[in-house]
Amino acid sequence: MPEDFEPNPATPYLTPPRDSDATRPEPRNLFQSSPPDLKVLAQLSGQNVLYARQFSFELVAELCKLAAVLEQIEIWPYHPLDGKIVTTAFFEASTRTRTSFESAVHRLGGKVISIPDGSITGAKKGESLQDIGEMFNAYCDCVVMRHTDTDAPKRMLENLRVPLINAGNGSGEHPTQALADWYALLKWNPRLAAPFETGDRRLELGILGTPGSMRAVKSFLLMSLLFSEHIAKVTVISEMADPFGKDVIDALNRADIDYEVTNDIRENLPRLDVIYMNSIAFLGDSYKALDSRYKLDSDSPLKEDAVILHPLARLDELDTSLDKTPHNLYFSQAHGAVFVRQALLLAVLGRLDRLPELKSS
Ligand code: CP
Repeated sequence: MPEDFEPNPATPYLTPPRDSDATRPEPRNLFQSSPPDLKVLAQLSGQNVLYARQFSFELVAELCKLAAVLEQIEIWPYHPLDGKIVTTAFFEASTRTRTSFESAVHRLGGKVISIPDGSITGAKKGESLQDIGEMFNAYCDCVVMRHTDTDAPKRMLENLRVPLINAGNGSGEHPTQALADWYALLKWNPRLAAPFETGDRRLELGILGTPGSMRAVKSFLLMSLLFSEHIAKVTVISEMADPFGKDVIDALNRADIDYEVTNDIRENLPRLDVIYMNSIAFLGDSYKALDSRYKLDSDSPLKEDAVILHPLARLDELDTSLDKTPHNLYFSQAHGAVFVRQALLLAVLGRLDRLPELKSS
């Protein structure tokens, strides 16, 4: 055992670290005035979850309300996913998405077939995703897949006849990350879960990165369009003059939202309420780190009550000096993902009827 870890009452490692000043909003505020509408969520039963644009404002709001309930109550005694099997098939590395999906299934009383690394499947020997999908039909009730290839969900869906949840496809999308992002924001400001009313303040939303090649940023931006009436302006801070790609530009223009692209971080940072950042962009088979000009730390000129979202993993663009500050909403965002994925699995697997009676309090 290393010397530091020898039994010694003076060692700081004998007690877990205390909580910090990081922002950890109260889930109850999201469902206190109105419980989740399970009829809205029932429309997800048996559906694939592939991209952010398949969601409506109402669906995201109700999923997040159910997630908040699940964060607040003990769900395990009800084991609502009893008898259901979920396969997590990850052909690309993950810390959070796979383990939070698996945690969600376990906490709901379902069972998991876990493929943490696609190279242990027949893919290593050249087996097609179409054939792997055909096999999964016999083994499970839902597949959660991550892959480096953007077209991987399309190939799997040629033969898969149980719902597929896209857990990240190359430079494509990461829709359940966007749900986790908006769950964190709706807990932080529950007014965002309701239609805009006179007296509400519109958000200045900042995005550090390139939505065209960062799948989490892309799904976050596309889901943000559902909340456009709550958003004064989206400011995309990027080293690229056109960071979007055609599909995102078209969606932005259709949504009638005010947006700007700039490469000047210092001028824009002080007016932003929410800053969304990511560390890496996909470039075919490789990755590119966020430009070092766009690094944030506790000395960055942030608005006093601004919050930062980051899907993680981070490199040095998000300094740990921010972790114990109220700007840190990214840990709440990561922890809350378990509950929003629980809500999604219950809806997709048609098990909303196994929940305890939900009452407003
Ligand atoms: N946010 C996210 O997708 O993290 P992982 O890569 O660890 O799953």
